[in-house]
Amino acid sequence: MSRLSATAILFLALAWLAPPAMAQDVHLGVKSCGSSGCHGQVASSTTNVLLNEYVTWQKYDSHATAYKVLLEPRSQRIAANLGLPNAHEAKICLDCHADNVPEEKRGPQFVLADGVGCEACHGAGSAPWMGLHIGGSPHDQNVQNGLIPLEDPIVRAGICLDCHLGDEDQFATHRIMGAGHPRISFEMDSFTDFQPAHFLVDDDYRKRKRVVDGVRTWAIGQALMVERRMELLADSKFATDGLFPELAFFDCHACHQPMSSSLPTDGGEFPTAWNPRPGTGLGPGVAKFNDSNMLMLEIALDMAAPDLADRMAQHILDIHKASQTSREAMNAAARATKETARQAVEILATKEIDAAAMRKAMETLIEKGSQGYFADYETAEQATMAIGAIIEAMRVAGFVDTAGYEKLSAGMEPVYAAVANDERYVVSRFIGAVQGLAASL
Ligand code: HEC
Ligand code: HEC
Ligand code: HEC
Ligand code: HEC
Repeated sequence: MSRLSATAILFLALAWLAPPAMAQDVHLGVKSCGSSGCHGQVASSTTNVLLNEYVTWQKYDSHATAYKVLLEPRSQRIAANLGLPNAHEAKICLDCHADNVPEEKRGPQFVLADGVGCEACHGAGSAPWMGLHIGGSPHDQNVQNGLIPLEDPIVRAGICLDCHLGDEDQFATHRIMGAGHPRISFEMDSFTDFQPAHFLVDDDYRKRKRVVDGVRTWAIGQALMVERRMELLADSKFATDGLFPELAFFDCHACHQPMSSSLPTDGGEFPTAWNPRPGTGLGPGVAKFNDSNMLMLEIALDMAAPDLADRMAQHILDIHKASQTSREAMNAAARATKETARQAVEILATKEIDAAAMRKAMETLIEKGSQGYFADYETAEQATMAIGAIIEAMRVAGFVDTAGYEKLSAGMEPVYAAVANDERYVVSRFIGAVQGLAASL
C-alpha cells in the first residue's frame, strides 16, 4: 500500500470508514481516485503502486477521451445516420464510450464526460474495498470486498470484452458500422500494453498478485472471445437482422473489397482479390464468418491440449458449413464451439506453458503465415498481434536473449506494416513479411 501523508489518511479514513448511507455499487467518479494525495501524483512513486495512474490515464489512455469522441462531428454523423438525436446522450453509444451506470448509481463527484474511468474496469468505489485499500489492506482482502481482480486474465477479459466485442446488452452492429463506426478488433495481451499499462509488474507486484504471462493472457483472451462470439451468435437478439445474419460477425473484407482489384494481387495477372484460405472449406463468392479468434485458439490450444486443438479445427469447418446451410445449423455449431471454448479456458488457465510450448506456438503462426493460411485480413491482424505477444512474453520470461529479441523485433516491423491498414491489405505482401521474419528465427 502506498505511503500517503498522515492528514490524507485521516481525511480519507474518516470519509470512507463512516460513509453516509449509500446505495450499493455506486460509482464515485474518476476524481475520487485521481486526487493528488492518491492516484493522481505527477511522477511515478517508489511505493507499491505507481500512484500516477490518473495522469497516465488522462494523458495517454484513449479511455479518457472515449466520451469526448461522441461530441465530435464524426460521431454526430454516425448518430444522424442512425436516426439518433445525438451521440453523447444515446444509450447505445454511452454504454461503451463511458461508465454509463444508471443515474442512481452515480456519486456526487461522478462525471459522465470522464469517459471510461477507473471504476468501469476496477469496480464501484462505494464497495468496502475502497476504504480498506486506503487503510493498506492486502489485495486478497480488497478483492473479497468488491475490487475486481483484473490481474486474472479471465476476469479481465470479462470486463474488456463487454466493450471491445460486445455483450447481450451492447453490441456494435453492422448498422452502426455502416453509419460510420470504425471496425473493432481486440487482443487482450497487446491491448493491455497499448492502453498503455498504468501498472508495473515488479517484485512487490509479484508478491501481491498472481502474474500471468503474456502468452497465457493471449490464449485465454482468444478462448473467451470465441465463447463470447458464439453466445452472441447463437442466442442473442443481435444474431440476425431481418433476412440476413448480423453482418458484424462476418469478415468485413469478404464483402468490402473492389470487384476488380486495382491493388497488386498474387501473381498480378488475375483481377480479383479473393484467395482461398486453407482450413475453411470455403470457395469464392461467400460471406465468410469471422473465425479469426477460432483459428488463434486452435493454435493456442496446440500448446496445451492438442486434442482440443483438433476439435477447434473441426468447429471452424463446421461453422463455415453451417453458415451456408441454415440458421438452425449455425446455432448448433455455435453452441458446440462455445462448449469447447469453455473447456479451453479451464485448460489454458491451469496447464503449464513452458518455453518450448511458446516457441512452438510462435513457429506455427509463422509457418502458417508463410504458407498463406492468413489470407484474410482479420486472421492476419490477429496472427500479427499473437506473434508480437509471444515474442514479448519470451523476452519477459528470459526465454530469448537480447540479441535474439532485437532480431525478432526487427523482423516484426514489415509484418506490422503489412497489416497497418486493412483497406490496403495484400496477402502476398503479408506472406513475404512473415517469410522474412521466419528467416530471423
Ligand atoms: C460495443 C461497444 C461500442 C458501441 C456500442 C459503440 N462503440 Fe464506438 N468504439 C468502441 C470501441 C471499442 C472503439 C475503439 C475501436 C478500436 O480502435 O479498436 C470505438 C471507436 C469509436 C470511434 C473512433 C474513435 C477514435 O478515437 O478514432 C468513434 C467516432 C465512435 N466509436 C463512435 C461511436 C458512436 C457514435 C456510437 C453510438 C452510435 C458508438 N461508438 C457505439 C466501442 C463501441
Ligand atoms: C480499461 C480498464 C482500466 C481503466 C479504465 C483503469 N484501469 Fe487500472 N488497471 C487495469 C488493468 C488491466 C490493471 C492490471 C491488472 C491489475 O494489477 O489489477 C490495472 C492496474 C491498476 C492498479 C494496480 C497497480 C499495482 O501495482 O497493483 C492501480 C492502482 C490502478 N490500476 C489504478 C487505476 C486508476 C486510478 C484508474 C483511473 C484513473 C484506472 N486504474 C483505470 C485496467 C484499468
Ligand atoms: C466501458 C467500455 C470499455 C471497457 C470496459 C474497456 N474499453 Fe478499451 N476502449 C473503449 C472505447 C470506447 C475505446 C475507444 C476510445 C476512443 O478512441 O476514443 C477504447 C479504446 C481502447 C484502446 C485503444 C485502441 C486503439 O485502437 O487506439 C485500448 C488499447 C483498449 N481500449 C484496451 C482495453 C482493455 C485492455 C480493456 C480491459 C482491461 C478495455 N479496453 C476495457 C471502451 C472500453
Ligand atoms: C455480407 C456482406 C457484408 C459484410 C460481411 C460486411 N458488410 Fe459492411 N456493408 C455491406 C452492405 C450491403 C452495405 C451497404 C452498402 C450500401 O449502403 O450501399 C455495407 C455498408 C458498410 C459501410 C458503409 C459504407 C459506405 O460507404 O456507405 C461500412 C463502413 C461497413 N459496411 C463496414 C463493415 C464492417 C466494419 C464489417 C465487418 C465487421 C462489415 N461491413 C461487414 C455488406 C457487408
